[in-house]
Amino acid sequence: MMSGKTVIVTGANSGIGKATAAGIVRLQGRVIMACRDPGRAEEAARDIRQEAGADCSQVVVRQLDLASLASVRSFCENIIKEEPRLDVLICNAGVYQCPFTRTEDGFEMQFGVNHLGHFLLTHLLLDLLKRSAPSRIVVVSSKLYKRGDINFEDLNSEQFYDKAFAYSRSKLANLLFTGQLARRLEASGVTVNALTPGIVRTNLGRHVHVPVLAKPLFQLLSRALFKSPEEGAETSVYLASSPEVAGVQGKCFANCRPQLLLDKATDQEVASKLWDISEVMVGIVT
Ligand SMILES: NC(=O)c1ccc[n+]([C@@H]2O[C@H](COP(=O)([O-])OP(=O)(O)OC[C@H]3O[C@@H](n4cnc5c(N)ncnc54)[C@H](OP(=O)(O)O)[C@@H]3O)[C@@H](O)[C@H]2O)c1
Repeated sequence: MMSGKTVIVTGANSGIGKATAAGIVRLQGRVIMACRDPGRAEEAARDIRQEAGADCSQVVVRQLDLASLASVRSFCENIIKEEPRLDVLICNAGVYQCPFTRTEDGFEMQFGVNHLGHFLLTHLLLDLLKRSAPSRIVVVSSKLYKRGDINFEDLNSEQFYDKAFAYSRSKLANLLFTGQLARRLEASGVTVNALTPGIVRTNLGRHVHVPVLAKPLFQLLSRALFKSPEEGAETSVYLASSPEVAGVQGKCFANCRPQLLLDKATDQEVASKLWDISEVMVGIVT
């Protein structure tokens, strides 16, 4: 049960994030849905309240655009002002294989939203999480991290853009970030763990072109083979709530079980270098 606990879920208006928010509310937790489009978020919040019989104070919407560092900063300022405690931060929002675009601050979109936006968000909320300890951070990555590399010489894909590589790189960055943060959080009372949700039927594929004629077949196959959003959210809800993982630090889970990662996702030298560069990119240090 999560009564008395406040949980922030990024990207909570759709897919895995929405199902995660609903799962937390079902456990009596209070959810702050951190979403870029307040209209879509309010609609999702209504669904969640209705399904769980929850009231407006248990499901709250706040605007957050991870493609804007100014938006991340103002979101965190408001949270710190309004919220006496924060028990769980779930870094869930993500963008997948979009055409080359830049965030407001000039970062390649997938690296900017999936990694850098969450990097700054976590940094700015860390004191509140520490004051609320024992508290947890949950990072949603993907098994596609395996196809990524942290190419430090071109993190913004200015020399070359491959949308699939950029997604995989951002998801590898999520895992390196989790490992490095876990080392920094030892004995703080705050834990951080990552997860890979599996293949889930969501809106994530919005930038992937499926030919019109193949669409019915694709939908049929996805219904048969992909997880539902609720199934996709199980490990997020588990890491946010289960006493079984209290104190567990720096692991990556799939289907509610720890999984082994490739060496490139646990490389401490790369993780530390990525951390330092990310701090400069988001303007925490100069
Ligand atoms: N679905 C899968 O098979 C799968 C597999 C592995 C990992 N994942 C990971 O699971 C997470 C959730 O994805 P999903 O499958 O649930 O996809 P989804 O249905 O597309 O949901 C993604 C969420 O992220 C939000 N988002 C995107 N850009 C944002 C921004 N700039 N600022 C704030 N929010 C933003 C979206 O908001 P809008 O609705 O406003 O766009 C949406 O709420 C992602 O991190 C994804 O990488 C998914």
